[in-house]
Amino acid sequence: MSSFLTPGSSNSKTNAATLALQGGRPVRTKPWPVWPVWDRDAEESILSILRSGNWYRGRGNTVSQFEEQYARLLGAKRCVSTVNGTGALLTALHVLDIGVGDEVIVSPYTFIATYNVVIGSCALPVFADTDPETFQINPDKIEERITERTRAILPVHILGLPANMDRINAIAKKHSLAVVEDACQAWLAEWRGKKCGTIGDLGCFSFQNSKHLPCGEGGAVTGNDPALMDRVYSYHDCGRPYGSVAKTSSYPIIGTNRRMTEYQAAILISQLKRLERDTETRWQNAQYLTSKIRHIPGILPHKLYEGVTKAAYHLYPFRYQKAYFNNAPRERFLAALRAEGIPCGGGYGPQYRDGLIEVALNSKNFKRAFSKTRLDRYRDELHYPANDRLCEEAVWISQKLLLTGKRDMDDIASAILKIYENRDRLG
Ligand SMILES: Cc1ncc(COP(=O)(O)O)c(C=O)c1O
Repeated sequence: MSSFLTPGSSNSKTNAATLALQGGRPVRTKPWPVWPVWDRDAEESILSILRSGNWYRGRGNTVSQFEEQYARLLGAKRCVSTVNGTGALLTALHVLDIGVGDEVIVSPYTFIATYNVVIGSCALPVFADTDPETFQINPDKIEERITERTRAILPVHILGLPANMDRINAIAKKHSLAVVEDACQAWLAEWRGKKCGTIGDLGCFSFQNSKHLPCGEGGAVTGNDPALMDRVYSYHDCGRPYGSVAKTSSYPIIGTNRRMTEYQAAILISQLKRLERDTETRWQNAQYLTSKIRHIPGILPHKLYEGVTKAAYHLYPFRYQKAYFNNAPRERFLAALRAEGIPCGGGYGPQYRDGLIEVALNSKNFKRAFSKTRLDRYRDELHYPANDRLCEEAVWISQKLLLTGKRDMDDIASAILKIYENRDRLG
């Protein structure tokens, strides 16, 4: 590898096979695992729920069983399941009394639902730029975004890699802010041995079809404060008094219906059986893959913060630096990698520059909730250069590919190396 050190120079053409993109033999023809995977033992419980007619949680105990099992697995005191991850986040913000006119600090590098839930709560999503090495919110950029209206930090453990929770919790404590963890991609990821989703005030999860713990659509809020979790339960169940809420209120408080169904919970209970094993496989394979690709020039594997004791790897990310690949655009690199039999993608774009934010700022609610001066300043500050660069350079490999073995990781590394060796013919 020592010869691969200068951008643009090619010195290994002789032993490189022709790129599959140009008619050569792909590195990989063997199929990758499919997702989701279901177990026959789920059939019996789903069928018995179907036949019982007790499909809603008020007439069964499957949802409660799942909540107990998931809370135990995470080391959280409580878990309340919801219809989806978006609903979990909206519920968490509501019970923490975050709403009209408030500001929430969030990473711009996330699935759009994280933006949506803040805007949907009539609060301002104030972005702190991304740390491109870890793909997470940059803790150094948070404090400069805090105003007298800031009420919470919403770190996203994006791609299943933990955000820097020591720094985030310390900043939150200093400024008396709540912390809601968007752990919608981070089932069983760990920060200093504690599971993501149990480190802030509340954690939120998604169980949508593509997720590591899937049931089609589903979500959960986790937390350790019984009174707060009573409010979560009550709010998700039409505001019916529950636990400590019942002691202070004999009538329904403001609520919504985000209850999970019994048959969804049955799927989740069966999926839980594989979650720990799969998480370990992804974790081991990701570390091995990093060791194989870290020396390829122009390929920068993601870094994990020192406090990460496990990452969930919903996606395995690295950065592609085109200067080392004969200036071939990332899209060309992605096409070449796919042609070699390695499914991959480029990930999120700079969504904060899409129309969504401007529509929100121009809405009746936002104009009522925030002064013109605040909204103008917000527009002026809407520049996140590190995030923009990351959006141009990122390459994502799906979690499915990590559910294999070392020889399969070797295929990914070989395909990337082959493209590097053929970089003169890539541009
Ligand atoms: C980071 C993140 N936040 C929130 C969500 C929303 O979850 P759901 O799709 O279950 O509503 C997702 C789902 O993909 C997500 O990836």
